[in-house]
Amino acid sequence: MQLQPPVARLSPFRRFIKRFHPEAIPWPGSVFYNKLSRTSIFQQNYKVLARDITGYCDAGRVLDIGTGPGWLLVRLYQLSPLLQLYGIDASSSMVEKGLKNLSEQELSGEIEIKTGSADQIPYDDNFFDCVVSTGSLHHWKDPVAALNEIYRVLRPGQYALVYDIASDTPKSVLREGGRSFGRLRVLLLWIHAFMEPFYSQEQFSSLPASTPFLHGSTEFVGVLYRLVLKKQLVA
Ligand SMILES: C[S@@+](CC[C@H](N)C(=O)[O-])C[C@H]1O[C@@H](n2cnc3c(N)ncnc32)[C@H](O)[C@@H]1O
Repeated sequence: MQLQPPVARLSPFRRFIKRFHPEAIPWPGSVFYNKLSRTSIFQQNYKVLARDITGYCDAGRVLDIGTGPGWLLVRLYQLSPLLQLYGIDASSSMVEKGLKNLSEQELSGEIEIKTGSADQIPYDDNFFDCVVSTGSLHHWKDPVAALNEIYRVLRPGQYALVYDIASDTPKSVLREGGRSFGRLRVLLLWIHAFMEPFYSQEQFSSLPASTPFLHGSTEFVGVLYRLVLKKQLVA
């Protein structure tokens, strides 16, 4: 199989990991991740991300790709009732967990979560006012196809925000993260960064070049790296 950029540009070690790394998190990984997502470090991080996202979009339709347990959507709902929230995940087991979490929060009627993949988004062209994704990019087998799909479903003039761990997160960001989230937790995150096919900052930034977005801007938000993409208005 031909490797897609930037997968082809990962270091040999991370390319090797990528070979065995599942795209959709299957059961029982979904059970483990769902439990992890309830911990304070994750919940605190969802709050930070939701605040960041509403800086770009505080009304209209938002899609969360690889929504997993769905907590980001819950936080967005709590922050801005003007948002209409949608989530997709390639793992049906994760979708089950997300739907259960929504039901526990009595938000089943307010937020839609269904099975769907980043490279085949089950929504119409120009449907969303914002597309977001957190911690899912490094799972995607074909990130370029995914960004093409994000471009298709996004309304012209609107933003997509893709957050993930960068394999070369600077020490200063980790130190600052340690102050906000606790040093031990950030140390565990740093160790975790060696075991997954995360992209470097440079690989992150080069992603949009092979897509209709063409370019994007990057920055750390908390301990995650964020790629901001804008769909141009048609002239
Ligand atoms: C590490 S979890 C992150 C979940 C959630 N976004 C969060 O921040 O807690 C990655 C999620 O992305 C999903 N995923 C992986 N590849 C995907 C794809 N191509 N399309 C949609 N979801 C995908 C996985 O099933 C998993 O639920």
